[in-house]
Amino acid sequence: MNVYDSDRITDALAPLGYQTTDGPEGADMVILNTCHIREKASEKVFSELGRLRMMKEKARDQQGRNVMIAVAGCVAQAEGEEITRRAPWVDIVVGPQTYHRLPELVAKIDPGTRSRIVDTEFPEEVKFDLLPGEHAPRGPAAFLSVQEGCDKFCAFCVVPYTRGAEFSRPVSAVVAEARRLVATGTRELTLLGQNVNAYHGEASDGKTWNLARLLAELAEIEGLDRLRYTTSHPLDMDDDLINAHRNLPQLMPYLHLPIQSGSNHILAAMNRRHETSAYLAIIDRLRSARPDIAMSGDFIVGFPGESDRDFADTLALVDKVGYASAYSFKYSPRPGTPAASDDRQVPEDVKADRLEALQQLLNAQQFAFNKATEGHRMDILVERPGRREGQMAGRSPYMQAVNFQGNEDQIGDIVSCVITQAKQKSVSGELDNLKGAA
Ligand code: 5AD
Ligand code: SF4
Repeated sequence: MNVYDSDRITDALAPLGYQTTDGPEGADMVILNTCHIREKASEKVFSELGRLRMMKEKARDQQGRNVMIAVAGCVAQAEGEEITRRAPWVDIVVGPQTYHRLPELVAKIDPGTRSRIVDTEFPEEVKFDLLPGEHAPRGPAAFLSVQEGCDKFCAFCVVPYTRGAEFSRPVSAVVAEARRLVATGTRELTLLGQNVNAYHGEASDGKTWNLARLLAELAEIEGLDRLRYTTSHPLDMDDDLINAHRNLPQLMPYLHLPIQSGSNHILAAMNRRHETSAYLAIIDRLRSARPDIAMSGDFIVGFPGESDRDFADTLALVDKVGYASAYSFKYSPRPGTPAASDDRQVPEDVKADRLEALQQLLNAQQFAFNKATEGHRMDILVERPGRREGQMAGRSPYMQAVNFQGNEDQIGDIVSCVITQAKQKSVSGELDNLKGAA
């Protein structure tokens, strides 16, 4: 979502003449778009700001040039005042719901005075209605935010506080944005939301559409060949959405569906409001609808009160599901969340051991998944040149990163490849000349 927001920030500033650069050196303005989800991400902001201070001073002293520094995103939202206190060289602090105002804020900054602006309101107006259209094409695979914020209040999570209450964009706005993206070469869209499957957007028929209905509508757009959505909560995985995986050929056979823990006792403490049996039942139904669906998830180890037994339950659940990929994290206490003040915090070394054990299992599953695709022919959406000479990089329907020998003219094509070699985080393929480029 931050990638999407950064693109939209670029759109917002384009009318003022700003363009993106490859790095901060020489830039007139540097915007850090920040993440507050775990402490590590948050702390990085302050070390980065230290570096930017030196850059700003150098530009001023050696070139008489003013470099504007802005902090956007969820750290800005949560720690706006602290940022201006710890890093007074920051000119603008802007939250995830106010970045459409950046042009006005930039205009207000007077380099002569040391004025600073903090705008972390949750405004009445909706930023999406006020942002200009895309300044530049987004490429073959693009993101589209359809839902934002969250009302679920998992005990560990800052999102409900930083992104605010759940909000769904109207269907017409989503479809218009999708059409614009497709017109500039996008063939795959990933619909985004912190709780994307809780989507309930107003439609022109006066009804409220769910995510399945929205996906069906987007599937009608000529040239939009692939659809994905992320991230979903198990409680909002309704029958319509499960059936969409059976009925919509454009909907790719891959789903990121976090459970966080395999222990019912920890799930209750996390306020996830479901048990493991419900999660496993959803996966069974998804697999009946789309037998080849690849599963992905998120896990937190060392949530307060997590015992060895609870952790063993997580490993057992992972064993049962068999993930194609997954993300796992040590629990990080976040300011203002209920779990942060729980007095049963798990020691760091225990968290580290559990994370290692879990990642070993998840890595083995990912490799096994990749290995099982060897010899299979797949449609690959070519996104960019690969790292090696003559290599191109794209994604399989199952979200695998695929590298193959090809050429840059193929960017934006869906080509047929035979998977030749599995690696841990990617696979190699060879163009299948029998079918050729589509
Ligand atoms: N500590 C560790 N991981 C967290 N996540 C969210 N909050 C925390 C936290 N306090 C993880 C969850 C979520 C993913 C986006 O980040 O697994 O699904
Ligand atoms: Fe955070 Fe997701 Fe829980 Fe919402 S559902 S509080 S975004 S983990």
